[in-house]
Amino acid sequence: MRRNRANIAQSKPGHKQASAAEPPAESPVTIRRYPSESDVSPEPLVELTDVQFAYDLRPILTGIRMRVPRGKVVAIMGGSGSGKTTILRLIGGQLRPTAGQVSVNGAVVHQLDHDALYRLRRRMGMLFQFGALFTDLTVFENVAFPLREHTRLDEALIRDLVLLKLNAVGLRGAAQLSTGELSGGMARRVALARAIALDPMLMMYDEPFTGLDPISLGVIANLIRRLNDALGATSILVTHDVGASLGIVDYVYIVADGRMVAEGTPDEIRASREPLVRQFIHGEADGPVAFHYPGRSYAQDLDLGGHP
Ligand SMILES: Nc1ncnc2c1ncn2[C@@H]1O[C@H](COP(=O)(O)OP(=O)(O)OP(=O)(O)O)[C@@H](O)[C@H]1O
Ligand SMILES: [Mg+2]
Repeated sequence: MRRNRANIAQSKPGHKQASAAEPPAESPVTIRRYPSESDVSPEPLVELTDVQFAYDLRPILTGIRMRVPRGKVVAIMGGSGSGKTTILRLIGGQLRPTAGQVSVNGAVVHQLDHDALYRLRRRMGMLFQFGALFTDLTVFENVAFPLREHTRLDEALIRDLVLLKLNAVGLRGAAQLSTGELSGGMARRVALARAIALDPMLMMYDEPFTGLDPISLGVIANLIRRLNDALGATSILVTHDVGASLGIVDYVYIVADGRMVAEGTPDEIRASREPLVRQFIHGEADGPVAFHYPGRSYAQDLDLGGHP
């Protein structure tokens, strides 16, 4: 797929020569398309190279390689406990790889000093897996919080920015509501507005669809795509919701047991014949990923004299 895009880009100059009346590529009338690696920078915004991670001696991630090109929305999918949130924590610098490296915007995250890591984190927006709003603050104050915390903008500017962010998620009218007055889908949208308050270059979403009805889920999925493109950001979406994410992302990585087992465009993933990908995409209980957590045999646990 990437190769296809590169070919399209290369064929453009020839096409231009054929029609002298056509405006130059940089003209404002050029049809907007998502920037690809070759347009913006050859360097991906986020790159994981042979990353390993272990809690104490328990290996969690092994040999993770991943590239997130600028401007794209990339999904990390995989079953529960496969290591998805751990990957986000490594990118955010909350965890340090035991081997390999994670780079963000050209910097190796675990080599940054405290101040540089803080500055980098300010440019990352994160929607946490169970991210809750501050229940004692209004919708407005929730979105204003990161602006008050990280900037010295005056009150009038904060107000304009908060309303802009709330408008982007369709909730400008709900600014003065308390969090108790929000539905689950609205609360998620407020959390989204809060996460983009500082105009992040990188957005990370950890299971943003959990507990939403199909309509709210579709709204959030479309918002993730639209906000990414409108902000000129880059997004990483961790989810096990195949249906919602394949429609909005540019590229997919599938993790199982701490390894990247497959990657491709949504079309490639849908068409994959790999048993593991098929098991995941079609939600089959039987397949390469075992249903049971590893442990003693059932017979042993029931003292039925199974082999040790
Ligand atoms: N603080 C911790 N200490 C020890 N082990 C942990 C810790 N946090 C996570 N783990 C383990 O690391 C593995 C990967 O966890 P992680 O949270 O990355 O999975 P996940 O893919 O995000 O799962 P889910 O879809 O359920 O959120 C799991 O086996 C988990 O038990
Ligand atoms: Mg998780």
